[in-house]
Amino acid sequence: MSEQTNQSWGGRFNQPTDEFVKIFGASVFFDKILAPYDIAGSRAHAIMLQEVGLLTEDEKDQILTGLDQILVEIDAGEFEWSVTLEDVHMNIESRLTRLIGNAGKKLHTGRSRNDQVATDIRLYLRDQVGDILAEINRLQLALLDLAEKETSTIMPGFTHLQAAQPVSFGHHMMAYFEMLTRDAERLVDCRKRMNSMPLGSAALAGTTYPINRERTAELLGFDRICLNSLDGVSDRDFAIEFLSAASVIMMHLSRFSEELILWSSAQFHFIELPDSFCTGSSIMPQKKNPDVPELVRGKTGRVYGNLTSMLTIMKSQPLAYNKDNQEDKEPLFDTVDTLKACLRVFADMVPTIETQRDTMYNSTKKGYTTATDLADYLVNKGLAFRDAHEVVGKSVSYGIEHQKDLSELSLEELQAFDDRIENDVFKVLSLEGSLAARDHLGATSPNQVKQAIQTARNKLK
Ligand code: ARG
Repeated sequence: MSEQTNQSWGGRFNQPTDEFVKIFGASVFFDKILAPYDIAGSRAHAIMLQEVGLLTEDEKDQILTGLDQILVEIDAGEFEWSVTLEDVHMNIESRLTRLIGNAGKKLHTGRSRNDQVATDIRLYLRDQVGDILAEINRLQLALLDLAEKETSTIMPGFTHLQAAQPVSFGHHMMAYFEMLTRDAERLVDCRKRMNSMPLGSAALAGTTYPINRERTAELLGFDRICLNSLDGVSDRDFAIEFLSAASVIMMHLSRFSEELILWSSAQFHFIELPDSFCTGSSIMPQKKNPDVPELVRGKTGRVYGNLTSMLTIMKSQPLAYNKDNQEDKEPLFDTVDTLKACLRVFADMVPTIETQRDTMYNSTKKGYTTATDLADYLVNKGLAFRDAHEVVGKSVSYGIEHQKDLSELSLEELQAFDDRIENDVFKVLSLEGSLAARDHLGATSPNQVKQAIQTARNKLK
């Protein structure tokens, strides 16, 4: 066997691996972050091997002690990663054998890197989902606090980005709370399928040794084992499900970003973001740019790209493991890092959002946002909704012509459109009246928003 060839598989090779092919084929540059999971998997495997009589007690102890030392070396940054050893798995195994000798060579009994790597990434992702859920929770709490401060803050609600009806700013924040609730549910759901153990699938067909897969699964905290060895080594559905859940989360954060960017512009000025979350321009001294939401909106593209990568990597692969699968890691790791960072920065930023209540209020007065209220008023006075719609349409047209909001028209002017209109109309045409009137479950009255926040708080606990 050539020195230049990987010692784990070099037996049948007469020529050394091409220098660039070594680098081209190596994954150690990025898969070394799996080391703690690889070691956890090896520990469980060794314990099981000893229990079924494939390792002696002493060999198992040596392996466990060696693995512990390797983890310490890695954590201390003292571990020497070798490209010749290709990936995290062979780097660790090789170091183990150098540390403890012969017993180290027995660790790979009854397993393959194919089931090893499939196990490692599931363990990794399972952990990461926990961290991501914690960040979602932190962001949701921040949204609840902001919504609570702003239950009675009136802003224009939009459809088609045209002023539609007055809504509570707190209600608007609670819409994002709802999205994040579904996002968390999706992650919890995909974690269920993720938590299935491939180990024991070996290379593809299982192994000739009397292994105890249930025991290894129990040691690693898996809920169940993968029931088909070919599927166990080649399934990456769980990663695709995660990437798709991550894409939906980014889509939500991107919509939120877009609104924060619009709202913090001088033209809207519904909110002010603090200097600590913005940057300036090197040429335009007046600028304060909302970089954080802009970056989050931009990073959404990366996460969508990662989902597309993974779907494409898996497409057309014959069973079972193929080297293509090595390409699964970078999109996955990048998504985890991007998602965690975006959620973190949002959870930090949301409590700093300062609403500009007067601007929002005055903006709500523009665009005839209480027109529907007038129609509803007429319906209550006995008109059919379609006829009421027509009457209000005419009064809006009159208001536009005379540059007056409906609430600024006199009773006589309004009565010209329908004589059923009386003095009580002005309460209906006020922004406060409009908001308060939408007082059922899920609607925007301050009373309902307060209750929604309370319900949400109870659920989060
Ligand atoms: N580094 C490889 C990967 O990430 C590990 C599995 C390699 N298996 C193999 N038969 N070459 O997928």
